[in-house]
Amino acid sequence: MIVQLGKTSLSWTRADLEAKIAGYPRVLIDVGTGDGRFVYRSAGAHPDTFCIGVDPAGERMREVSWRASRKVARGGRPNALFVVASVQALPEELGGLAHTLTLNFPWASLLSALVLPEPPVLEALRRLVRPGGELIALLNQSVFDDRPYAARLGLPELSDAWVEEALRPAYLAAGFAIRETRMVEGEVPHQTSWGQHLTLASGRRTRLLTAEAIGGAAPG
Ligand SMILES: C[S@@+](CC[C@H](N)C(=O)[O-])C[C@H]1O[C@@H](n2cnc3c(N)ncnc32)[C@H](O)[C@@H]1O
Repeated sequence: MIVQLGKTSLSWTRADLEAKIAGYPRVLIDVGTGDGRFVYRSAGAHPDTFCIGVDPAGERMREVSWRASRKVARGGRPNALFVVASVQALPEELGGLAHTLTLNFPWASLLSALVLPEPPVLEALRRLVRPGGELIALLNQSVFDDRPYAARLGLPELSDAWVEEALRPAYLAAGFAIRETRMVEGEVPHQTSWGQHLTLASGRRTRLLTAEAIGGAAPG
């Protein structure tokens, strides 16, 4: 898999990754991580958790991945890593690692895969997570509330009924049991660059969707 480290990209094997995460009792994977700040912050706030950000736009993770690589006293985060990949081609090296999988304010093909939904993408996400692990998604509901705009993007109406009728069975078939879906009142649980940006824009609404990874390891 390709790891972003400042301006450099490196090729890592599963063995490289295992050596790095050894000793950390928990792993968080954030798919569609954007600039990586959420992963950097999470790594600082939870030193016992190895935090991995994944995004196809490696150049946007340059600054934060460089900061994370410095000495701890200078803001380094030895428990943070940034991987260049899209959700449609997730590296096998990440398989079965996550106790927590986060998806914060996804857009484009990541968003549509989650809400249409697209079973191969759900299955690929499930393969990242350990049995019993959790998925936490924060979705920008305002995109769906603007029906003409959402329709132009090919997005469905994201309502509680859609979650029950379309998402619940598809997520379950992929090995995710949806636990909760609701609009978030007040502060969203994850502080991310997009979350802050959207909170500043008045009237923005965020939907929280959580699920538990059920069954054994997801099929490869
Ligand atoms: C609105 S930004 C949110 C970034 C970050 N999670 C945050 O909250 O600040 C959406 C992110 O989804 C990523 N994204 C879009 N399509 C994707 C795909 N197919 N696979 C993985 N990430 C994707 C984009 O590169 C972008 O970084």
